[in-house]
Amino acid sequence: FTLEIDPEDTDKGAYPYYMLKEIDEQAVVARNIAAHYFDEEGQLQGIGCAITDKMKEADRLYIVAAGTSYHAGLVGKRYFEQWAKIPTEVHIASEFAYDQPMLSAKPFFIFLSQSGETADSREVLDNVKKQGFPALTLANVMNSTLTREADFALPVLAGPEIAVASTKAYTAQVLVQAILASALGNPGFDLKAELAKVAVEISAITDEKETFKKIAETALKDQKSAFYIGRGLDAAVALEAALKLKEISYVQTEGFAAGELKHGTISLIEDGTPVFALLTQKKTAGLLRGEVAQVAARGANTVVIASKSLTKDGDAFVLPEVEELLMPILAVIPAQLIAYYATLDRHLDVDRPRNLAKSVTVQ
Ligand code: G6P
Repeated sequence: FTLEIDPEDTDKGAYPYYMLKEIDEQAVVARNIAAHYFDEEGQLQGIGCAITDKMKEADRLYIVAAGTSYHAGLVGKRYFEQWAKIPTEVHIASEFAYDQPMLSAKPFFIFLSQSGETADSREVLDNVKKQGFPALTLANVMNSTLTREADFALPVLAGPEIAVASTKAYTAQVLVQAILASALGNPGFDLKAELAKVAVEISAITDEKETFKKIAETALKDQKSAFYIGRGLDAAVALEAALKLKEISYVQTEGFAAGELKHGTISLIEDGTPVFALLTQKKTAGLLRGEVAQVAARGANTVVIASKSLTKDGDAFVLPEVEELLMPILAVIPAQLIAYYATLDRHLDVDRPRNLAKSVTVQ
């Protein structure tokens, strides 16, 4: 069974909510992205030399974005630094617009946006264009303001995303940043083959809906607050995981770097407080296990989501394993599904959370 995405298709079909449909579509999105950016022989295509030459001239990349797209940028930074060897900063558009940080001598800007219309990002693009700096937009909606007004644009190819809570646009943005970084430097593995594996494993996770439903209905039952922790790339995913849960279920959720627990947040842990730990990075797995034990000793209800090779008895979910740097694409999916089912359990409108808009065109 393959799920096809028709670019015109904004019908939720048999799905009760767009969000669930869009979560399920992530495997096919990964395949579509690979098919677009790699040819049959596994050579990269679709990223012109004009883009890569300009990026190689830069001494620093500045990723500018808002919300979920900002979180995708935090993951992308790793690819640009590790593979392309270009120092990379990630900035919140609404901050950068009014407090521009000191820039390097030859900056290159990357705007990440699902809609291509976010006003804060547009403001930054206007500012940097006036200063004469080159800019590339990675957007899901092509022919949007940010794609038209930047020097360069590349599609993230998630297909129409209707639910306010972004899911497939996040994974697509992470994937396209990985591909772009691989056009600038060597990842040290066959990215095309690994993306095929990522697609298979996304489906393996989305097939486990009952597990996440159960986690959501037990760990989050009657809870008003929750935490997502992780280290390294898992800390970046923890931010996105927390945003998913809070924005639709209204459970106040903090996501942060696990090492910071001891500097304040651990005082919030009470009996039964749900603490979700994302554990996919080998280097820091031992430290993160220690932090999980510390919150558990203070009464937290710990829910560990760990990669296969790092898992231990008692973990709530075992993530299939792909290249460690691509694990954010898999680690976010349980969080999306937990957010979805926690929201359903609260009888709230999954697709249209209060006070939020899909595209924020005001500053
Ligand atoms: C809104 C949406 C978020 C999105 C953010 C940035 O807040 O609800 O899902 O991440 O805007 O939007 P963009 O279209 O620029 O990615």
